[in-house]
Amino acid sequence: MEVILAKSAGFCFGVRRAMDKVYERVGTGEQIYMFGSIIHNEEVVKDLEKRGVKVLHSPEELSLLQEGVVVIRSHGVSKDIYSMIDENGLTCVDATCPFVRKIHKIVEDESEKGAYIVIMGNANHPEVEGIKGWSKTPTFVIESAEEARNFKVPQNQKVCIVSQTTFNYNKFQELVEIFSKKGYDINVVNTICNATEERQKEAAEIARQVDTMIVIGSTHSSNTQKLYEICKAECADTHYIQTLEDLYLETEATKSIRCVGITAGASTPNNIIEEVQKYVRIDF
Ligand code: F3S
Repeated sequence: MEVILAKSAGFCFGVRRAMDKVYERVGTGEQIYMFGSIIHNEEVVKDLEKRGVKVLHSPEELSLLQEGVVVIRSHGVSKDIYSMIDENGLTCVDATCPFVRKIHKIVEDESEKGAYIVIMGNANHPEVEGIKGWSKTPTFVIESAEEARNFKVPQNQKVCIVSQTTFNYNKFQELVEIFSKKGYDINVVNTICNATEERQKEAAEIARQVDTMIVIGSTHSSNTQKLYEICKAECADTHYIQTLEDLYLETEATKSIRCVGITAGASTPNNIIEEVQKYVRIDF
């Protein structure tokens, strides 16, 4: 069995940095809170909970805290969450990915200059919710070509377009193309993270060459879902798994396979990738 493992599979720079920051604080005796799960991986979150770290699920829960350390995950948060942490006298450990912070800065600056903000991405994703919270002007989230076509603001209105870091690059280009025909004064800033772009390109290349493609990651992870869509478009026999157990269930259908590709989303720990790789090499 030939196995091609994507070099870009697993933790990206921002997730690794966030994980390091939270594990550095564990065991210091302080009460640590994560504002949302640090990564989309249940095993990691469970491990942190075992070590006493608590997860906050909403700004309301945060507003009730009077002491402790609040870790902001790599997705980032809106400006008012920083204010709340500050006003309540809490310690902030900011693990926002620097690439996401850059988008906050662009949105804050551009909206200060009066531009309306368009975010290409998923409106329900925490990263997008966080980005919206840095704008002082009307902000729109666009995900589909239809939404882009229906978008309408006054002709002389300045519009700044940014993207969720994990947005599909081809889709971003397609939507920007629709916007550019509308005649607005637009400023397009491609804020798709290189790690995402490279991961997506590499996944597509591998999926094109193999009989079976395995995409590892949480079903809640937006970048893993996109990886799956990209791989599925290139390789019909693409499997989306969270752990090795999910793959066991599919073994029956994999008898005549000679070449398998493996990639994984940005919040997939290395040990899961290694387990899957080992199993595919030896037992598949
Ligand atoms: Fe940051 Fe890119 Fe990862 S934005 S969190 S390095 S996918």
